[in-house]
Amino acid sequence: MNGDEWSSSKKDRAKRFVTMSLQESIDDIQKAVDSFPIVTSAELESFRVKFLGTKGLLKQLYQDLKTVEAGNRKSIGQRINELKETAEAKFTTHQKNLTPTSDQNSATVDDVTRPTAEPQIGSRHPLSIVRNQITDVFARIGFTVSDGPEIEDDWHNFSALNFPPEHPARDMQDTFFIAKSSTDDKSGEIALRTHTSSVQVRVMESTPPPIRTISPGRVYRNEAISARAHCFFHQVEGLYIDKGVSFADLKQTIDYFAKSVFGTDVKLRFRPSYFPFTEPSAEVDVSCTLCQGKGCNVCKHTGWLEILGCGMVDPAVLEACGIDSKTYTGFAFGMGIERIAQIKFRVTDLRMYSENDIRFLGQFKSAF
Ligand code: DAH
Repeated sequence: MNGDEWSSSKKDRAKRFVTMSLQESIDDIQKAVDSFPIVTSAELESFRVKFLGTKGLLKQLYQDLKTVEAGNRKSIGQRINELKETAEAKFTTHQKNLTPTSDQNSATVDDVTRPTAEPQIGSRHPLSIVRNQITDVFARIGFTVSDGPEIEDDWHNFSALNFPPEHPARDMQDTFFIAKSSTDDKSGEIALRTHTSSVQVRVMESTPPPIRTISPGRVYRNEAISARAHCFFHQVEGLYIDKGVSFADLKQTIDYFAKSVFGTDVKLRFRPSYFPFTEPSAEVDVSCTLCQGKGCNVCKHTGWLEILGCGMVDPAVLEACGIDSKTYTGFAFGMGIERIAQIKFRVTDLRMYSENDIRFLGQFKSAF
């Protein structure tokens, strides 16, 4: 400090004091600007009011600048300008971040290479997988898919299929009866269909041969629900009617089907059996896929698993459906989808299929 300064007037000393305290104020405000937290738009507005508003701290600094001694005014003015720029820059940066851009508003993703959240893909029900596979196998050898009603009359479920009235064969299947038919004598009682063989009748009644079709669908029987029986389950019916269809065609078709579904190593066995609507009739077993025919719990130590019933369509059934049994012959077969699924997926409790437990359902992944 030189002597001039010591000799300066009271007014000058006061101005020097103002200068010093203004510099301190600038420092304090600078710190306050830097540390002011801005996360919400309310905070952004508080920042603006506090520092940049018409009654804000910066305005006050400019007022105070007027009282600073002339020699220092320029440099202090510059400091205040810099502080103002810093505060304005902080304000605009946060303002940009807090205001959604038009891109964000229209939900456009900026980075198209950014990986997305993996979508949750559901799995197909095991019975659908098996039904689709069966449909696929038969489609390759010319079988179409047809369906019929689940609420069926006595004619289509029993009578046309050669079940005589009061015949014990009707006891083979415990029926859920719904009502007596009031309109049509022939149709008889109304019930939930006990098998998909009813669809054979509907197809034969409505389609002139040649017929080559399968009919997957749900069927109902009055059974107590347990691991081995259910009051509803699923079947696939097959029907082939043409001139000159023989039992050899039936065997070849079933052989092709079984090898497509269970693998070419599987062995087949045709056992003579009885169904009212086929003559001759057979039941078909495949060699146990678990023990390769050696004998295990699943095949009850026989080495064989029954998969379907089949036979040559009884001429009486052809005639009942309006098809000339002297010109046409045919074969039919019926299988349970749960049964095929049980063999393929080793699901031993039938109830699992209808419990909708996603821990069970999520285990099945398939191309079908
Ligand atoms: N409808 C029979 C059942 O539910 C299965 C069946 C056996 C269907 C032989 C057929 C057949 O078409 O020929 O048990």
